[in-house]
Amino acid sequence: MEKIIDENKQGESLVLEQKESNKRKLFIESYGCQMNFSDSEIVASILDQQGYNTTQNLEEADLVLVNTCSIRDKAEQTVRKRLEKYNAVKQESNPNMKVGVLGCMAERLKAKFLEEEKIVDLVVGPDAYKDLPNLLAEVDEGRDAINVILSKEETYGDIAPVRLNSNGVTAFVSITRGCDNMCTFCVVPFTRGRERSRDPQSILEEVNDLWNKGYKEVTLLGQNVDSYLWYGGGLKKDFDKASGLQKATATNFSKLLELCAEAQPKMRFRFSTSNPQDMTLDVIETMARYNNICKYIHLPVQSGSDRVLKAMNRLHTREEYFELIDNIKRIIPDCAISQDMIAGFPTETEEDHQDTLSLMEYVKYDFGFMFAYSERPGTLAERKLEDDIPLDTKKRRLNEIIALQQKHALMRTQEHVGKVEEILIEKASKRSDQHWSGRNSQNTMVVFPKGNYKVGDFVNVKITDCTSATLLGEAVGYSENN
Ligand code: SAH
Ligand code: F3S
Repeated sequence: MEKIIDENKQGESLVLEQKESNKRKLFIESYGCQMNFSDSEIVASILDQQGYNTTQNLEEADLVLVNTCSIRDKAEQTVRKRLEKYNAVKQESNPNMKVGVLGCMAERLKAKFLEEEKIVDLVVGPDAYKDLPNLLAEVDEGRDAINVILSKEETYGDIAPVRLNSNGVTAFVSITRGCDNMCTFCVVPFTRGRERSRDPQSILEEVNDLWNKGYKEVTLLGQNVDSYLWYGGGLKKDFDKASGLQKATATNFSKLLELCAEAQPKMRFRFSTSNPQDMTLDVIETMARYNNICKYIHLPVQSGSDRVLKAMNRLHTREEYFELIDNIKRIIPDCAISQDMIAGFPTETEEDHQDTLSLMEYVKYDFGFMFAYSERPGTLAERKLEDDIPLDTKKRRLNEIIALQQKHALMRTQEHVGKVEEILIEKASKRSDQHWSGRNSQNTMVVFPKGNYKVGDFVNVKITDCTSATLLGEAVGYSENN
């Protein structure tokens, strides 16, 4: 199963309001994590100032940008296929079209992209989007252009992202960039650079602006949100060198959550992703204190075996993870928890795999995102460990993990049946235009007949039935929050 947060959105091309004075057409599509989708909104905002309106039609695009993901080999192959498609369109009907590659693959492959893929004119890494106007000027003059410099400071805090393909109700706001955790399987620290946090004032301004535009829910984004730390700017790893005053007035993640929850008490807040080794009790306590912080934690664990966790450089044990889960359930009894899991990491034995299954039995996750190990060039695992688990074994173990997750997901959705829960209406249900769909605090999708309600309303829904992924119910009135 290849699943990254919202599978339905993979590759979606993005369209925003058309400005009459803009004469050129941009086709921009994104692959990978939510951060990439959020970055594409920053890119579209920068290009909006450069005379580009967006289009969903490749045939009429002057510029095609693809925001790419390197997390697994399959993600990169998907992008290579898209480049073939652009090439075909260019040959057949749009010879002047220019093509740019953004994001993690751009950062990983750098100038190699220009050599390997003749169709590519422009290569831009995740910290270089503000340089796009200069790079495009070079492309206009017929030269290939590249900027893959990673930054110590860039957080794009000063760019107001345009919201693309938005439902007008939910939005992402990025709060950190990069990652310092160096999990041995992971390419992100290499493609997104060192970890840095964004100024809380600029986060709050973006949140307030979203509220004023009618948005009702914000997801705070980072590779590792619990590690958020603002002390006036700079890298997380340089915090030790900060002054006494900077340290005393620093904002950590729990404080940031509190600032957001209080700034907009009727807005819902979510966050993603949490890393067990960085999640602190005060974050859980802050979640419990505010009704408008959703009761859902995405808490990837990757493996249930202490030996494998160590080889992955995940800096916690199985026991410590259980302690964290126990604390979450004690402080927030109705909190939903989800996992990321990797099957077939190098040296993983059958016993290690059984440890993963038994860990899942202990937690009984509400949701899960599960992957077969994919060796990534340049990572510590690639340099130090042989990718020695046969594909068949990886797949079999992955299937066992997925089957168990499905069983637990159904158990978890069944726990909601009979309850009345607050739902934020996001859109019409995919299956029926007579039904709304939205999510409860725990992030489970809920579908119910439309009645007189509208998108963006907070309603109380009595849950009557469920599948392993969706709750069905009936609205019983507006919620207090509406
Ligand atoms: N902290 C990040 C994690 C990014 S990667 C976040 O914000 O989500 C998302 C998930 O992809 C990881 O948790 C891991 O389960 C999976 N993953 C990362 N590298 C992988 C690899 N080399 N092979 C298979 N799965 C991988
Ligand atoms: Fe990757 Fe581990 Fe960071 S999974 S994004 S190195 S927390």
